[in-house]
Amino acid sequence: MKVLVTGGAGYIGSLVCPMLLDEGHDVVLLDNFMWGIHPILHFVTHPRLTVMDGDIRDRATVAAAMSGADAVIHLAAIVGYPACSADPMLAKSTNVDGTRHLCDLASPNQALIFASTGSTYGQCDTICTEETPINPLTLYGRTKRDAEQMIVDKGGIGLRFATVFGLSPRLRLDLIVNDFCYQAYHQRQIVLFEGHHRRTFLHARDAALVYPFTLARFDQMKGDVFNVGSSSMNFTKAEIARKVQAIQPFYLHEASVGEDLDKRNYEVSYDKIHRLGYDATVSMEEGIAEVLRVVPHIRQRSEWRNAA
Ligand SMILES: NC(=O)c1ccc[n+]([C@@H]2O[C@H](COP(=O)([O-])OP(=O)(O)OC[C@H]3O[C@@H](n4cnc5c(N)ncnc54)[C@H](O)[C@@H]3O)[C@@H](O)[C@H]2O)c1
Repeated sequence: MKVLVTGGAGYIGSLVCPMLLDEGHDVVLLDNFMWGIHPILHFVTHPRLTVMDGDIRDRATVAAAMSGADAVIHLAAIVGYPACSADPMLAKSTNVDGTRHLCDLASPNQALIFASTGSTYGQCDTICTEETPINPLTLYGRTKRDAEQMIVDKGGIGLRFATVFGLSPRLRLDLIVNDFCYQAYHQRQIVLFEGHHRRTFLHARDAALVYPFTLARFDQMKGDVFNVGSSSMNFTKAEIARKVQAIQPFYLHEASVGEDLDKRNYEVSYDKIHRLGYDATVSMEEGIAEVLRVVPHIRQRSEWRNAA
């Protein structure tokens, strides 16, 4: 297949593209390289890869990138509520208008696969299934909801990811697990608020692996949404902190003040995608251990903090 990957130089995309190339697909990578070219250097010369430096907000660019593609894996976005709140216009034009271009230009035989998020559920008192009404509480969640709806209306697939963690060539240290690892090593203390809040997680390699999985089952999954994660990966924030502490000792201060603005405190069911045969392969402990091997060598966090 010829597969267009938007956001192919990002945290998840830089793992997806080499997997697709390894599977024998031709890959067109469209990205505006917000985080630079470094994340794709290890596969940039692959003979079946075409790199396009462009913006999904530009319709002509999207049209050129989609030309001849059998499938589109749409990852490009302004990711996480802090980044979206910092520039709401950019967030809406990228996450919503960029997706609209893809949907308007897609031909009926192009398979659209969208990176959605569990953030669309908002506050959820029960275990969230795909039937649970969505109620996003942040601009990020709302832009992802609107984009997901357009994709599904077009017969595509919405993959509602858990919070991703672990290593990738475009390493994100703003994600909660990676952030705890960084703080544990460099500050030797973490101030934890809302430690009882439950979140749900997925390793970056497993997030990438769901794409070859979905491409192979597109006809079975099309026109629908799927929570993507593992029923073995629902943890409280305090449980995550203690898992990090088991490898990298630090002082954990459980504070009674402070709140997460996206208010996520939920448990998610992954039964629907498990029934198709998908499950996580990397445990939380393995992911934490690998991040802790890397953070000592990161002297300074220079990233925009865009926690998804
Ligand atoms: N990482 C997570 O925990 C998580 C969880 C749920 C959903 N997602 C979704 O997965 C997707 C990828 O997330 P990520 O963690 O890899 O983030 P990321 O920020 O690392 O990747 C996004 C990529 O999109 C590119 N991009 C941004 N605006 C663009 C534009 N206008 N035109 C072209 N390219 C543009 C960036 O340069 C970057 O390479 C996003 O759609 C995100 O909403 C991520």
